[in-house]
Amino acid sequence: MEKKVLKAGIVGSGFAAKFHYDALQQVFSARVEIAGAYSVTNEKLSSFTKPRGLEAFNNMEDLVENSDIIHVCTPPVTHEPIVVEALKQNKHVIVEKPFTGYFGDGSEEFSGDTFSREKGLEHAMQSVSRMLNAEKQSTGRIMYAENWVYAPAIQKERELLQKTGAQIIWMHGEESHSGSHSLTYGQWKFSGGGSMIGKGCHPLSAAIYLKHVEGRARNGSAIRPKTISARTHAITRMPTFKDEGYLRTTYKDIEDFAMLHVVFEDGTIADLFASELVLGGVHNWIEVNTTNHRTICNIHPNNAMQSYTPNQEHFKDVYVVEKTETKQGWSSISPDEGWFAGYQHEMDAFYRSAAYGDYIESNSSLASDVIATIYAGYVSAEKKGTEVNITIL
Ligand SMILES: NC(=O)c1ccc[n+]([C@@H]2O[C@H](COP(=O)([O-])OP(=O)(O)OC[C@H]3O[C@@H](n4cnc5c(N)ncnc54)[C@H](O)[C@@H]3O)[C@@H](O)[C@H]2O)c1
Repeated sequence: MEKKVLKAGIVGSGFAAKFHYDALQQVFSARVEIAGAYSVTNEKLSSFTKPRGLEAFNNMEDLVENSDIIHVCTPPVTHEPIVVEALKQNKHVIVEKPFTGYFGDGSEEFSGDTFSREKGLEHAMQSVSRMLNAEKQSTGRIMYAENWVYAPAIQKERELLQKTGAQIIWMHGEESHSGSHSLTYGQWKFSGGGSMIGKGCHPLSAAIYLKHVEGRARNGSAIRPKTISARTHAITRMPTFKDEGYLRTTYKDIEDFAMLHVVFEDGTIADLFASELVLGGVHNWIEVNTTNHRTICNIHPNNAMQSYTPNQEHFKDVYVVEKTETKQGWSSISPDEGWFAGYQHEMDAFYRSAAYGDYIESNSSLASDVIATIYAGYVSAEKKGTEVNITIL
């Protein structure tokens, strides 16, 4: 059978645009033609498009018109308008994490440290509603680019849950590293929050996804998150923080640590950590305790390959693994980092769904639950960890 041809349009030309482009080279379910890319920064756009031989569009409307699937690889504050615009034109849309959020009131005085978290929750959920409504009125679909859902370890756990009929009783997990470089990441008005949303969304999405899977497998409907108790801290911004130069310290008004305790509708639980406080490379893992099995998913690092060198000079031209401070000594060198993270798997699955209507594992319902949980989490953190109900749309 001839593979269906689908045209991809990439919005953004930074870090995410690059790994979307790379992952598109590994889509085999459909034949991908990249229509081109658009981003607000002309210079950055041409440094992305030129070496890849892509067309650089002058405006988003033309890119959307010329594409079947739009990739939203722009800062979180821009996700809603781009997603809504693409859906209006009946295009599918692959949107990076976090789905959307609350980015302040646009005033000069807005500070992520002091605004009312109830207001943040209300606005974030209004944004989610607008995106879900746009999807309802469109023949296009929202594909939430949460790579953890498609990481091979998480998809294998999906199979275990479906085939064993297990009940997940407790999950714990984490996404942490030594901090994000991006200056926009450190400002609430661009990022919609700190570690809880920027990093916590990954293990949280995996945890909620697996409860959705369990519910659908056992009762035909997803088990959704019900309440959250959360704490946040800004450790590197404390006057007492002893800066030794290894951790990033460029955050303006966001937290660099978050702890989330989530209770699901069936009373089972998940404990998740997210931080910018961890040395030794990216620390991404989730452990799933069920009534008939226990699984540990090591996404980063994992010991698929380990390499030792007495002097890191030998590895000066080698990419070893994301964000380790040194290549000297033993490294959990990753033979294919994107593979373990699920980047190529998510892209292939999205194009399979777009071409043949396959079920979207990481869909708008999951994206909505994640944002509802995180912003309820910010309300809880404002109340020093009081349990807060999660609004499910
Ligand atoms: N899944 C992951 O592992 C992962 C990793 C990194 C980033 N991300 C996500 O990807 C998104 C982009 O992050 P990034 O690191 O690529 O940022 P970046 O700053 O490297 O690039 C952002 C790009 O968006 C463009 N842009 C900004 N506003 C725009 C607008 N209104 N219209 C069109 N283009 C616009 C900029 O010109 C820039 O090219 C974020 O949502 C981030 O959370 C996901």
